Amino acid sequence: MEEGPFGGSCRFPGQGIFAYLNYLTPKSRREILELLVNGLKRLEYRGYDSAGVALDTPDGKDIAIVKKSGKVKALQDEIVSKGESLQIDLSTDCHVGIAHTRWATHGVPSEVNSHPQRSDVGHSFVVVHNGIVTNYKDVKLFLEKKGYCFESETDTEIIAKLIHHLYTQHPNYSFRELVEQVIQQLEGAFALAFKSRHFPGECVATRRGSPLLVGIKAKTRLATDHIPILYSKDHRPHGRGDMPILPRSDSTAEFQPLEDKEIEYFFASDASAVIEHTNRVIFLEDDDVAAVKDGMLSIHRLRRSLDDSHSREIITLKMEIQQIMKGNYSSFMQKEIFEQPESVVNTMRGRVNFEDNSVILGGIKEYIPEVRRCRRLMLIGCGTSYHSAIATRQLLEELTELPVVVELASDFLDRNTPVFRDDVCFFISQSGETADTLMALRYCKNRGALIIGITNTVGSSICRESHCGVHINAGPEIGVASTKAYTSQFVSLVMFALVMSEDRISHQQRRAEIFNGLKHIDEQIREVLKLDEEVSKLAKDLYTHKSLLIMGRGYNFSTCLEGALKVKELAYMHSEGIMAGELKHGPLALVDKAMPVIMIVTRDPVYVKCMNALQQVTAREGRPIVICEKGDTETQSFSSKTLEVPHTVDCLQGLLTVIPMQLLSYHIAVLRGYNVDCPRNLAKSVTVE
Ligand code: G6P
Repeated sequence: MEEGPFGGSCRFPGQGIFAYLNYLTPKSRREILELLVNGLKRLEYRGYDSAGVALDTPDGKDIAIVKKSGKVKALQDEIVSKGESLQIDLSTDCHVGIAHTRWATHGVPSEVNSHPQRSDVGHSFVVVHNGIVTNYKDVKLFLEKKGYCFESETDTEIIAKLIHHLYTQHPNYSFRELVEQVIQQLEGAFALAFKSRHFPGECVATRRGSPLLVGIKAKTRLATDHIPILYSKDHRPHGRGDMPILPRSDSTAEFQPLEDKEIEYFFASDASAVIEHTNRVIFLEDDDVAAVKDGMLSIHRLRRSLDDSHSREIITLKMEIQQIMKGNYSSFMQKEIFEQPESVVNTMRGRVNFEDNSVILGGIKEYIPEVRRCRRLMLIGCGTSYHSAIATRQLLEELTELPVVVELASDFLDRNTPVFRDDVCFFISQSGETADTLMALRYCKNRGALIIGITNTVGSSICRESHCGVHINAGPEIGVASTKAYTSQFVSLVMFALVMSEDRISHQQRRAEIFNGLKHIDEQIREVLKLDEEVSKLAKDLYTHKSLLIMGRGYNFSTCLEGALKVKELAYMHSEGIMAGELKHGPLALVDKAMPVIMIVTRDPVYVKCMNALQQVTAREGRPIVICEKGDTETQSFSSKTLEVPHTVDCLQGLLTVIPMQLLSYHIAVLRGYNVDCPRNLAKSVTVE
């Protein structure tokens, strides 16, 4: 991939962690709280049933925790109402605050189940956690035997209590050593940030299987771009049975500070939460323990493994704050739909040369000879990402002349699908963190296949675990329902097809058509977006209906699936994407004059077949709404209403036909009064299988 690291280990994100440490940087408590709450707001899209923060009490002797069910806004209101007791106008030079948005996995969304979770009423230790601790019951039993009483239903609480228990046994251990001991006892996936009354001004964070990064904002220029990794002696006990207390693990390396004065640190689940403060970040690896003490950051690992690097690089992110703000749009989703003319260009930027019709995909360039020798391509993803594979399969088959298999990650895993060393497997994922896709990736990697990641998230698991890949560069996608990532995934796969066919004389004319199509695609998307008003009127006719059928075939079938998914996700309306060729094998029975039907008919090789389907629908008194090419009067004569999109080369037409469907689902959802950015029961990153 072009930027950011890849290779490395696994992670599953879940909810959002944000921690902030200011060292010798005076801040009022109000500023600190605002910073924490804003950090959470940036992460809210990851999970949003409750939120909480922990900071020092004004006298510095205890920890104050504020938690609230619901949106981060509810937490913010709660903080405001507690303003006086929190003494928000007091200023502090050195402070650690930790914050969290939760999406319930263990226990209902409630205040007591929200994070931070605490070790005891005296708040010796508090912790925020993303992910799932799979052995929490064993640990809980062990701690209960030691006399601990649990207040929440969460798996996280065991972490807070376990560190407390270790602390009582080993009061001389450093905060970082205690955390190292804790994580040796945990199974499952986690990112953690700890704060302790016993270690004021210190923050320790770690991860295994869930993303976590450290943002660094220093007053003076950083002396280094790399943080060396320090190793501790491994005293891991054998067997987990009775949860033994571990002997102390001494650091074998010198403590090497990053910086020693006027510095601020941010720990966050993703970069969108820190980018407004700093663009200098370190993506932590599994089992890294990052500790800040006396303003100095150090990164520790318990033991060396062969493929460990010696340091963690401080990366400079190119993401801009405007990219993650809503701007003048009413929702992130609307903004993201309207960003598509730019996002598709960003996908091609620096890769497609329209002067000599060539493409260079820097992240996979060296692997292309190997890809050319493969015996099949497998495209694997979930949801919208899967649809982008369906959208481009036909072109990939045509231009690579290889068998192309498209798989839903979950089903692929269920079937124990045979995979071979000479397979090339693409893992398509906006977030780069979807659990099923990641599992499928590991499955294929273990069988020796070449792994290519197609993701939108630099530093994500899929990016890091792939052998090589393409960042789709669509910019942060905050709306839960994917829109611009789809069109950028689509374009990325088209670019790959073009790379694969560059030497084939027989494909040159076809390639030239596609380059020409790509060259104008941004202005054509802009033109389609002008249909917004018309689509919004159409939504008024449709939003009270119970169901919506979307039919098409060939290059437009993926638009049907993706359009139906958008309608389901956003408008909570039953919708089906139907392969028009299957119409007479069942779906036609659903058609009558009351059933809303949308048909996608463009002037491509299956045009005549689509027209047949259209007539079959009108013959059953159906009154289809048709998405067709501009000026196609023949198609229009069979429709009750048409949405006309510009003509492009057949294999790119889906980039244009999907946009009215995105707009339609958006408008129907708004008319139904739903929150389009956060549809019920859904999350942006689905991190559980
Ligand atoms: C969730 C999101 C969808 C997305 C799917 C796959 O279900 O709500 O919008 O298409 O996950 O996500 P990925 O990040 O792997 O593309």
